Amino acid sequence: MEVLRDVVVLLHIVGFAVTFGAWVAEAAAGRFRTTRVMDYGLLVSLLTGLALAAPWPAGIELNYPKIGIKLVILLILGGLLGMGSARQRRTGDPVPRPLFFAVGALAFAAAAIAVVW
Ligand code: HEM
Repeated sequence: MEVLRDVVVLLHIVGFAVTFGAWVAEAAAGRFRTTRVMDYGLLVSLLTGLALAAPWPAGIELNYPKIGIKLVILLILGGLLGMGSARQRRTGDPVPRPLFFAVGALAFAAAAIAVVW
C-alpha cells in the first residue's frame, strides 16, 4: 500500500511538471498562450491529489489545511485556464500577460506550499 501511495504521489508531481513545464515552454517561446497540455497536467494533479487526500494506508496523518489551500489554488488555476482558452478561441490572440503570469505563479506557489509547508 505504501508503495502504491508513493506511485500516486509521483504521478501527482508529474501532473505539476506537465502544467508548469507547458507554461515554461510557452513563456520561453514567447507565445504566452495557455494550452491543452496545461489543462491535462492540472487534471492529473486534481485526480491524483483527491486520491491522496484520503487517509490511506491506515494510520497516516494528513495536513488538511495545506491540502485545502492547494485545492483552492487548483480551482483558481482551472478557472484561469478556462478563461484563457475561451479568450484565445474568441480573439485568436495570446491571453493578457497578467493572466498568463498568474497561471505560472499559482502553479509554482502550489508546489512551493506542498514542499515547504
Ligand atoms: C497545482 C496543484 C498542486 C500542486 C503543484 C501539488 C504539488 C504537490 C507536491 C509537489 C507534492 C509532494 C510533496 C509532498 O508530499 O508534500 C504533493 C503531495 C500531495 N498533494 Fe498536492 N499539489 C497540488 C494539488 C493538490 C490537490 C488539489 C490535492 C487534493 C485535493 C492535493 C493533495 C496532496 C496530497 C494528499 C499529497 C501527499 C501528502 C502526503 O502524503 O504526505 N494536491 N502535492
